[in-house]
Amino acid sequence: MALSDFLGELDQLLAAAQAAFSAAPDGEAVEAARIEFLGAKSGRLKSAQQGLGTVDKADKPAAGKRFNEIKEALDAALQAAQDRVAQVAAAPTGPALDPTLPGKKPRLGHLHPLTQTIEDLKEIMGRLGFSVAKGPEIEDEWHNFDALNIPASHPARDPLENFYLSTAEALASSATNDAAPKSKPLLLRSQTSTVQIRVMEKTPPPVRIISLGRVYRPDTADATHYPMFHQIEGLLIDRHVTMADLKSVLRLFAMSYFGGEVHIRFRPSFFPFTEPSVEVDMSWHDRWIEMGGAGMVDPHVLKAVGYDPEQVSGFAFGLGVERVCARRHGVTDIREFYKNDVRFLEQF
Ligand code: DAH
Repeated sequence: MALSDFLGELDQLLAAAQAAFSAAPDGEAVEAARIEFLGAKSGRLKSAQQGLGTVDKADKPAAGKRFNEIKEALDAALQAAQDRVAQVAAAPTGPALDPTLPGKKPRLGHLHPLTQTIEDLKEIMGRLGFSVAKGPEIEDEWHNFDALNIPASHPARDPLENFYLSTAEALASSATNDAAPKSKPLLLRSQTSTVQIRVMEKTPPPVRIISLGRVYRPDTADATHYPMFHQIEGLLIDRHVTMADLKSVLRLFAMSYFGGEVHIRFRPSFFPFTEPSVEVDMSWHDRWIEMGGAGMVDPHVLKAVGYDPEQVSGFAFGLGVERVCARRHGVTDIREFYKNDVRFLEQF
């Protein structure tokens, strides 16, 4: 066989094998092509090898060299095809991306229902001209009791009815200097009425403020009690303020928060810091809701902060934030507000 014929045959063989390997769609097809071209018994390379024996002796080295090159090229083509189909098999099946599927929603947080209520109440009272005042949650007895006309003998001051802090006393007794004044007892405030005193001590009348925040009482937790809860306190001091103003403000407040027609009912009551004092109920959807207490600021309180009761008068109220929030949303157990169970919270 002439060398050129032999080489031509090898070239054709290589081209055909490369085409077959690169077109093979899967492992089975690659294997079929391997048997066809590289099969040990009757593969096409094997038959071409037989042609090598018929080449002239002088051309043998060149023919053999080329034969080896072709064999290496075939092996490489086989390897490439095997790698390619293995990769396809390992790849996940199905479309890589379906742009028509709904996206994954990021989980956005939102304000706690009580915080939402506090914001709503601030907004409503802001429209009635009340600005927001803040006070500390750790209080002294003057602001929590004395200035509010609650004498030392009053049962509300019972240590068992309050969270007194032992830190202040511990600090005082650890102080070595006996001449140092004894530090005042401190407690977690039991009512936001403390802020009335703090504001009036600093501000000459007229005053028109609300204050919202936490208060603490050692109550056993049940559906309507918790050792910590929130109050909204309101205070308006001016000339010629009457109970009619109190009633109008509370009614406007309730109408704005609950929406629609709301009735206000005052029941005679007693608070040391108001005279007269009332319990406030609001009727909404044919039910009376107990909201808290209110009244005309007691002259003793006005005097305690340096106001002249002959010149100014005012009203005050303190309502439960949990109570209005629960009523509006139909929550029947206030403990739900503090569990931080997302399934509850995400409904608001
Ligand atoms: N501080 C009272 C309480 O916690 C509520 C209250 C009653 C507040 C009458 C007031 C008020 O401002 O005038 O039970």
